Amino acid sequence: MVTRRVDLRSDTVTKPTEAMRAAMAHAEVDDDVLGYDPSAAHLESEMARIMGKEAALFVPSGTMANLICVLTHCQIRGSEVILGDYSHIHIYENGGISTIGGVHPRTVKNNDDGTMDIDLIEEAIRDPNFDICFPTTRLICLENSHAHSGGRCLSAEYTDQVGELAKKHGLKLHIDGARIFNASVALGVPVHRLVKAADSVTACLSKGLGAPAGTIIAGSKTFIAKARILRKTLGGGMRQVGVLCAAAMVAVEENVGKLESDHRKAKILAEGLNNIKGLKVDPTTVETNIVYFDILKDVCITEVELLKNLEEHGIHAMAEGPRKIRFVIHHQISESDVQYTLSCIQKALNSLKNIAN
Ligand SMILES: Cc1ncc(COP(=O)(O)O)c(C=O)c1O
Repeated sequence: MVTRRVDLRSDTVTKPTEAMRAAMAHAEVDDDVLGYDPSAAHLESEMARIMGKEAALFVPSGTMANLICVLTHCQIRGSEVILGDYSHIHIYENGGISTIGGVHPRTVKNNDDGTMDIDLIEEAIRDPNFDICFPTTRLICLENSHAHSGGRCLSAEYTDQVGELAKKHGLKLHIDGARIFNASVALGVPVHRLVKAADSVTACLSKGLGAPAGTIIAGSKTFIAKARILRKTLGGGMRQVGVLCAAAMVAVEENVGKLESDHRKAKILAEGLNNIKGLKVDPTTVETNIVYFDILKDVCITEVELLKNLEEHGIHAMAEGPRKIRFVIHHQISESDVQYTLSCIQKALNSLKNIAN
């Protein structure tokens, strides 16, 4: 029986550390829905400072954070939001902006690096004064790092350009920054600089940072006051939430510094995978902690079979599509786990007749 477990399904799978558990046990708390929880207030003010915004709000998840932000910017039903065709908000959030908010998504093609061409964004902006059949565009959404492109990072300059475009047309800019700390570390640019042009930004605390739950929304004081009301409407008001916020504060203090090492391990993994005959990944596109790789067509193993084989060795991951697998590195994956994973994959492929050396 294999006792080793290497969980590469996502960076959301981390277990709270001893320091987080201790902080939870001793957190000073009160009723945050009635107005004030000291541990929540502390986390929110620290995160607002780090993210360079006037105020911040702790919410249960990245999905709720994006929903609250889009709905706060687009309070009139039938507003239109421009976002990437492979953005998390569009693909993986149950269409909540439409079903709950009555907001219409207008997608623009995401390039391989997670950007959208600025001229295509501008072309997509619509105004019913021009054509009565059009909805009113009110918001542009970016995602940094961009999950579906394999954790690629949007530069501060690119984000500024989109911000200028938004301003020129009287629109707001939201950044889904679920992994904005990964982008910041990879680019060597502080978070507050990366999101300077944004009217709102999210940052997940329970992904690479390893907190048990929660996402931060940051923006102006007025924006956050409206977001707080919407959080309550959506059922996201939490009473003694300081227990979670105390753990999240430790996550920020403990784990931002570990992201660089996560990225280094992801690069080693990508290079190792690319050296295995029958697999393909371009390591130069691995900028943060996500690695996608392809199983070449002439290899007679499917992604489902390979994942099953790896599970027998205690390695867990997810398929990203036909012949495509995703590995996500986090601070509870060691360099030895990376080497173990590579050797298990090599063994699995060696056992196939058609590519044995
Ligand atoms: C880019 C991005 N945004 C938002 C989310 C949603 O976060 P949650 O799972 O906390 O709802 C995710 C989740 O993986 C994500 O990758």
